[in-house]
Amino acid sequence: MEEKVLKKRILTGDRASGNLHLGHYIGSIVNRLKLQEIYDCYYMIADLHALTTHYEDPDAVRESAKSIFVDYLSVGLDPFKSTLFIQSCVPEHSELYLVFQMLVTISRAQRIPTLKDKLEDLHIEEGLASLGLLGYPVLQAADILLYKADLVPVGEDQVSHIELTREIARRFNYLYGQTFPEPEAMLSEVSRLPGINGNKKMSKSLGNDISLSASREEVQEKVKAMVTDPAKIRKDDPGHPEICTVFAFHKAFNKENAPYIETACKNGRLGCVADKENLASVLNDLLEPIRTKRAELLRKPDYLRELLELGNEKARKVASATMAEVREKVRIGPLSF
Ligand code: TRP
Repeated sequence: MEEKVLKKRILTGDRASGNLHLGHYIGSIVNRLKLQEIYDCYYMIADLHALTTHYEDPDAVRESAKSIFVDYLSVGLDPFKSTLFIQSCVPEHSELYLVFQMLVTISRAQRIPTLKDKLEDLHIEEGLASLGLLGYPVLQAADILLYKADLVPVGEDQVSHIELTREIARRFNYLYGQTFPEPEAMLSEVSRLPGINGNKKMSKSLGNDISLSASREEVQEKVKAMVTDPAKIRKDDPGHPEICTVFAFHKAFNKENAPYIETACKNGRLGCVADKENLASVLNDLLEPIRTKRAELLRKPDYLRELLELGNEKARKVASATMAEVREKVRIGPLSF
C-alpha cells in the first residue's frame, strides 16, 4: 500500500493546448506556488484532455506540453517539492477512465455545462460531439481520484467537473467498497484577467493573450494595443479606469500603485500612453526572471528530461497503487486459480 503523506493532497492541471499566459499566472500559478509549500501537490499537464479537441493536430499538443512543462519550472513550481507530470505518461489515467465510464450515464455527461460551451466554441452541432469530448469530465475524474486528491484548485467553470467527480467516487464506493475520498474544489478568489482586447477572459484561442514566454518587445506591443476608455482621447481628459483594460492589469500586477494610477487617470494627470509604458515595464519586470530561467533550462535538455521523468515516476507510483486496488475491486486483471 502506498504511504500517504500527512499533508493533504492537491491535484490540478492544464490542458496542453497552448502556452501559459498572464491569465494563468494570476489565476492559478501564483496560488500553486503558495500551495506547494503547504500541501502534497500534483501538477499535471493534461495532454489527453487536449487531444479531445486537438486530435487533428497532435504536434501542437506535444509542443504545448513541452512549453507548459518549461513554464512550470520557470515560474518556480519546484519539481522536488511538487510532482510535475504528463498525463499520458501515466497510463493508469486511461484505464481508470474506462472503468469510470460504466458509472456515468450518457445523459449525465451531456448535461455538464462545459460541453455546451465547448461545442459552441468549436462550432460542432449537438449530437456530433465525439465520445472523447463527451467523456472529458469523466477523464478528469480519473485524474483526480487516481491520486485520491483531497483538494482540486480550479476556476469557477470547472466546478461541475468536480461535482461529477464526487458522484463517481460515491458510486464507486457504493458498488465496490470504500476506495475514494470525495475531493473538494478549491476556488481561487482572484478575479479573471481580461484579454488585451477587453474581452472578459484572456485566452490563447481568442488571440488576446500575453504569453509567459513573450519577449520584451512583444509585451510592449501587446500593451500598446490594449483597449482603454474610448472617452479619454487626450491626456487631460478624465478617464474611467473601471472600464479600462490597462487598469485591470494594474490592479492584478501593480497593486501598490493602482490607487495612485486610478486617481491620476481620473484627474487627467495621467495619459494612456504613459500609463501603458508604465504597465509594460511592470509586466516585463515580472517576466524577466521567468525568461532568464526558461533560457537557462532550454540549454539543458537532458536535465529537463530528468526532471520530467522524476515527476512521471512519482505519479506512476501512486497511480499504479490505486489502479491495483481498483482492478482488485472490479475483478479485472490477472486471474488467480
Ligand atoms: N479541465 C481542466 C481545464 O480545462 C484541466 C484539467 C484536466 C484538470 N484534468 C484536471 C484540472 C484535473 C483539475 C484536475 O482547465
